[in-house]
Formats: sequence, structure tokens, C-alpha cells
Amino acid sequence: MDIRHLITFLSLNMLLIVTVHCSDNTGKTLKEVYSAKFLIGTANDLNNLSPTELSGVKMQYNIVTPENCMKPQPVHPTENTYNFETADALVNWCTQNGLKVWGHALVWHSQTALWFFKLENPEINSAGNDSVLHNNRNDSIKKREIVLQRLEKHIKTVVGRYKGTVIGWDVVNESIADGGNGSTENLRNYSWYKIAGPEVIALAFRWAHEADPNAQLYYNDYNIEQGAVENKGKHASSLLLLKRLLAEKAPITGVGIQGHWDLNVNLADVEKAIENYAALGLRISITELDVTSIGENSGILQIQQGINSQPKNYEKQAEVYRKLFEIFKRHADVIDRVTFWGISDFRSWRRGQDALLFDAQMNPKPAFHAIIEAGLH
Ligand code: XIL
Repeated sequence: MDIRHLITFLSLNMLLIVTVHCSDNTGKTLKEVYSAKFLIGTANDLNNLSPTELSGVKMQYNIVTPENCMKPQPVHPTENTYNFETADALVNWCTQNGLKVWGHALVWHSQTALWFFKLENPEINSAGNDSVLHNNRNDSIKKREIVLQRLEKHIKTVVGRYKGTVIGWDVVNESIADGGNGSTENLRNYSWYKIAGPEVIALAFRWAHEADPNAQLYYNDYNIEQGAVENKGKHASSLLLLKRLLAEKAPITGVGIQGHWDLNVNLADVEKAIENYAALGLRISITELDVTSIGENSGILQIQQGINSQPKNYEKQAEVYRKLFEIFKRHADVIDRVTFWGISDFRSWRRGQDALLFDAQMNPKPAFHAIIEAGLH
């Protein structure tokens, strides 16, 4: 081969590499294949991505969830400071590029600044402690009032700012504690639930609805599919909570099953949970999907990350993703959206556990092809 042929050959190859990058050999993308079924999303703050990663986001997905920048702590670090820079830029980029935005999250026990729960007056401030709660009933009522006023203001400011652009919100995130037997709602016994009580959940939905009456409003949690087949554990608690919210006429439209799963995810529970939530008249989304190819996974923040990639498990991972999407397809009439929690195995909170569809260089993994195939057949 002479030098001219060699250059032509190399250039053609380069072109081919750029074209097939991030896409399937059918040439189809995730959002195209599932366009008649549900939205396909990804999560990232979009403030630190390479051009390849950004074009991957544009190519594959039609909705973005900000991974961190709309959470209470980053967006509202002190009572009088809001920090909307990253969130505004994300919303602008998505709007300009034809992607929708999902808001995450308004009420959460985590990534929420402590000022929400602290008062200047030390006497009233101590009212949340069990030891003084009964003696200082008035202080405790006062504190509850102030803390709820702050939450109302937070919700109305953040939702109001993005009214008409952010299509929906995870209004309340992860209020159910782990390890319950399912006989009660088993709410977490701190932060919002301790000071404001279980009513805080319906109030938050009302305030979000007042701020944007057209927004879809979701309750979002992890492991809430667990126990669905036997109606026990966290799933049973979630049904009790959701039924209460519906009875209280909270303006809730759907439930987010986070979907932080591993190779042993119980598929029967996933399907039954979707059916049970749909039977309540709620819409369903899979809001934070990732399937680790090594080690465990759940929504719990402290889980140890793996250190090595395990390409040998990629085929198994692809099969799990295929089966999950077959379930999602069967229930597409009640599913609004399936969002992956991250962009690639590098842009993932489970980095080292290779939980997503693209490797660190944005090359599609077997899981990507399996999901495309599941959508086409
Ligand atoms: C995670 C982010 O991915 C991390 O970057 C951050 O350090 C911690 O939070 N459930 C949720 C998400 O609802 O907001 C969490 O996101 C993952 C678990």
C-alpha cells in the first residue's frame, strides 16, 4: 500500500470510529429505539464533560437529571444563599439541545444543609431533642413551624425558578428507613420526619404543586421493589406510605424506583412492584438505574466501591439489563421514563463497579447492545 492509499485507508477508519462511537451496529440509539415507549435519561451535572461525553448525552438520551446540583445542599447552602449557576447552565444546555430536564430532589435527609434544622434561639433549637421535647412542647411546635416555613420557601423558590422547563420533580427522596418488616411506613427517624412529622411529605407535594401545577411530582426511593412478590419489607412500607399520600389527596403523580441493582437483582420483585404501583393509579419511572458488574449495589451511599473492572461479567450484566428492559417494555403503558444514573463507567457513582452501558472511553458495552436489541424485538 503506497502512502496515499494508507492515508485514505486511515482516514476512512477514523471516520468509521467517530461514527460508530456511542452507537449500536444497527446505528440505532437508545432514545430512538424506545421513543414510542418511555423517555430515556441520564444523570450528570453536565459541568465537567468532554465533547465526546456531551455528544453521547445528546445522541442517546432525551432527558437529564442533574446528579447533584439541584439538591438542597448545593443549591441552597445557607438560608440566604441560593446557588443556581450549575443548574441554570444545565437547564439552558438541555433546552437548547432539545432534551428535557427532571428535577432532583426537594426533600431529602442527605445532602441537605443543617441550617434548615437550626434555630438562633438555643432553647427553641433544642426542642427537637427527645429529652426536652415533652417539657418544651411550645418550643417544639414553634420549631416545627419555622422549619416547615423554610422548606416551603425552598420548594417554591427552586420549583418556581424552573417552572415550565423542568418537567417534574423527585419531591421527596428516600423517606423510608431500611430493615423494616413492612408492617408500618417505617419513616426515617431524623431530620424532616423527626422535627416536622410524617405530614411533611404531603405538605411538600402541595407546595411543589402550587409552584408548578403542570409538573409531574414523584416519590423516589431505593430498594422499594424489595419484598413486592411476598408483600413485605420496604415494598410493603412504600405501599402504606403511598396509600396514605393518596388518601391525604397529596398531588403525587408517580413513584420512582431508583434501580441501583447488581447481577442478582430480583426481577420478579421489580415486575410485581411496577404492577402494584400502577394498581394505585400512579405512574412509574426507573429513576437511577445502574447494574454493577462486580459487587453489591443499592441506594445506600456508604457502599464500598470496587477497584477493578471486570469485563468478564459484561455478558452477564448485558443479560440482566436485557431482562429488565423486557419488563419495562411489557409495562410501557405505565412507565414514564427510564434514567441511568451516570453517563459511563467513569462518570458513575459506582465507579470501579462498571455499572453502566458505556466504558470510560464512551465505547458501548454488551449491555448497550442488549438493551437496543430488547427494544427492537
Ligand atoms: C449520589 C451522586 O451520584 C453522588 O455524586 C453524590 O456524591 C451522592 O449522591 N440516591 C439518590 C441520588 O437519590 O441523589 C444519589 O446520588 C445516589 C443514591
